Amino acid sequence: MRWSITKTQATETAGDLLVFPVFQKNDQADLKNLATGTKPADLKKQVSTSGFDAKATGLLPLFSTGTKASWLLLAGLGTAEKVGLDTIRRLAGAVAKQARSMKADRILVAVPEKESLGIDDEAFARAWVEGAEMALFAVGILKTGKKAKELPGSWKLLADATRHKDLRAGVLEGEKFASGCNFARDLVNQPPNLLTPIKMAEEAKAMAKAEGMKCKILNVAQMEKLNMGGILGVGQGSVNPPRLIVLEYKGGKSRKSPTIALVGKGVTFDTGGISLKPGANMDLMKSDMGGAAAVLGAAQIVARLGLDVNLVTVVPTAENMPDGNAVRPADVITMANGKTVEILNTDAEGRLILGDALWYAGKSKPDYIMDAATLTGACVVALGHHFAGLMSNSGELIDSLKQAGGETFERVWHLPLIDEHKDAMKGTWSDLKNLGPREGGAMTAAGFLAHFVDETTQWAHIDIAGPSYSEKATATGPVGGTGFGARLMARAVQILVS
Ligand code: BES
Ligand code: MN
Ligand code: ZN
Repeated sequence: MRWSITKTQATETAGDLLVFPVFQKNDQADLKNLATGTKPADLKKQVSTSGFDAKATGLLPLFSTGTKASWLLLAGLGTAEKVGLDTIRRLAGAVAKQARSMKADRILVAVPEKESLGIDDEAFARAWVEGAEMALFAVGILKTGKKAKELPGSWKLLADATRHKDLRAGVLEGEKFASGCNFARDLVNQPPNLLTPIKMAEEAKAMAKAEGMKCKILNVAQMEKLNMGGILGVGQGSVNPPRLIVLEYKGGKSRKSPTIALVGKGVTFDTGGISLKPGANMDLMKSDMGGAAAVLGAAQIVARLGLDVNLVTVVPTAENMPDGNAVRPADVITMANGKTVEILNTDAEGRLILGDALWYAGKSKPDYIMDAATLTGACVVALGHHFAGLMSNSGELIDSLKQAGGETFERVWHLPLIDEHKDAMKGTWSDLKNLGPREGGAMTAAGFLAHFVDETTQWAHIDIAGPSYSEKATATGPVGGTGFGARLMARAVQILVS
């Protein structure tokens, strides 16, 4: 999609579809001040007989006679009291899909007054662009003969010249956030026979190269040297060998620039291993690399924004399979930090690969670490699909992620993490065990990870098992990988360095 900003009058601009965002007032579309080129009385008559009440994301296409654009599209914002950034995102998504179905290639958007929206122009443009680009993300590209169509092509935001600077800044940011999200979605959607750990490493490497980041990929022999018993243990049952992917973005502009590490769980398929999962819905476990996808997407956004930070992205990636070579319950492995772990359940594999990766991330002495992982079914039971669980030892990270979640609508809910959760993972035969009590499973999983993070390092663990995959389409995305976490973490980094 191409975006531009122009000051020409709505009625005077050529295009296929001219969009007017409209508020709802007293259960009716508020048609005041719309420069539609249609007589207000005629417009009112058409709208009142259409059933269009301007509820959020509701749309009404009208054939236009008074504008240079062929069609008008009234686009419901809902009530002024309720409108927020995600209303804008969802509305843009609905408009983009409508435009595509009308085969409209040139879209004009009459940007509403910021006073009436209560949203500044930069934030409006960012949300609009994000919503439109995320909503049209293509799925089904493996169907024979299906081409990813790039309709609609050009969008023009119409507003007074005084607003262009802010709108342009928002457009540029929105494009970056959307593309990081869509990059993550694509990784999650790829089937596990194609997206193996090695393929994931190749994808990460190509992205890093395109964004000017350094990329290092550790193979089995290199991980053996580092005693990464967690990643190697989880990966040893698969013919697709594990990898550790490390990306480095050196954007720090001064010695004071912080170092931030992102760590993402990259299990390309989770059968459960010898502790095999039941067959029903096992296909969804292709999304068990949603954390890896999220941190790679976030790294792409951070690099494109050129943020003043040194970012280290660490992705342990492995396939969890049952096999003659697979780890078994009762095996004791040694992790990179020297701690021994008894594997009581081979399906609790995420924490094993993350333990090694968190230790590795700690080597660059980061000021902050954030990890994202589809870690526990317990978190899905607790919070459902609209929230990720947030567990952290840092008030600053909790505040930043809550703010970032509110703005990106990738929302987090703070869960406790205390020494008792850490202690619950102490082993009988070894330092640690990988299975705690059934109760509080999201928190004890975080407690396990805490054994691999320096206590003085500010760290946040984000359990995205619920929101990383959607079994139905939403206003801003199709079924499949949601890309959850990419925009959230990039925005959190942006907040932390501002
Ligand atoms: N990848 C799963 C967690 C998961 C469940 C992600 C549902 C997305 C949706 C993880 O590896 C797992 O199997 N966790 C076990 C841990 C248990 C054995 C302690 C779980 O949650 O059941
Ligand atoms: Mn598992
Ligand atoms: Zn898993």
